Amino acid sequence: MKKTIRIISVLLVSAMLMTACGQEEIQPESTAAEPETTRAAESIAEVTVPDIHPTETEPTQPTYSETDLDKLIAITFDDGPSTNRPSSTERILDTLEKYGAKATFFVQGINLTWPDFKDRNTAIVKREAELGMQIGNHSYDHPNFDKMGSSEINEQLDKAADLIEEASGVRPHIVRTPYGAQKQNTLDAIDYPVILWNIDTLDWDTKDAQKTYNEIMNKVKGGSIILMHDLYQATADAVEMVVPALIERGYKLVTIDELFEAYGQPLVSHQYYYKAERQD
Ligand code: NI
Repeated sequence: MKKTIRIISVLLVSAMLMTACGQEEIQPESTAAEPETTRAAESIAEVTVPDIHPTETEPTQPTYSETDLDKLIAITFDDGPSTNRPSSTERILDTLEKYGAKATFFVQGINLTWPDFKDRNTAIVKREAELGMQIGNHSYDHPNFDKMGSSEINEQLDKAADLIEEASGVRPHIVRTPYGAQKQNTLDAIDYPVILWNIDTLDWDTKDAQKTYNEIMNKVKGGSIILMHDLYQATADAVEMVVPALIERGYKLVTIDELFEAYGQPLVSHQYYYKAERQD
């Protein structure tokens, strides 16, 4: 009974927040409006996660202890591979490789097609896969899915997935919607789990490595999904600082798949996730 009341109140709060978000103007990737979006995600996740858990029959190998889970995090990079020189995406890969850290890159298909960058960026996506990074689908050219129909959304995802698979040999099986679009119609259209975030560095806005570093170090905890963009040199600078600092603090940087597998939390199509949560 208590639980029912809690779930109903959570749904009501979610509905209110979703309405508020729906009235927001669409803006680049992350804005001051994001905290509301994140809160809405948090409220809904509380309801949906217990429902999907029973579908997992056998728990995966418990390779991580309870304490370990507090130290697992996923860094994610959107919108790349970059079209700058030197490539900020390559600089980020260099740092991750140096420290044996993993991350997830949500790639935009169109960045594998520009005549001046096609060959270089195809090689970069291949390197991402070879280094054990996870590659997710961030659409072909970054439209707002919340304003599109199901067939248009899927054309965007298929076109990007074809380009990513051709470049890397791996077809992405997770999606990050441009602008974090998460309306129900959008989720209904996407036959993949949608991965959002709970730490928003606003790196695209500040282009300030120290601010990005501070945002991460102040907010990080186990299960976090951190949002950055590999398009900027300032982000590559921040990665050079933050990766060793996180490791020094005992964190292990893993891919989205590795994070959720460790938490024993199944990733389900048409659902969205903003962090990994313990399964009780
Ligand atoms: Ni984006």
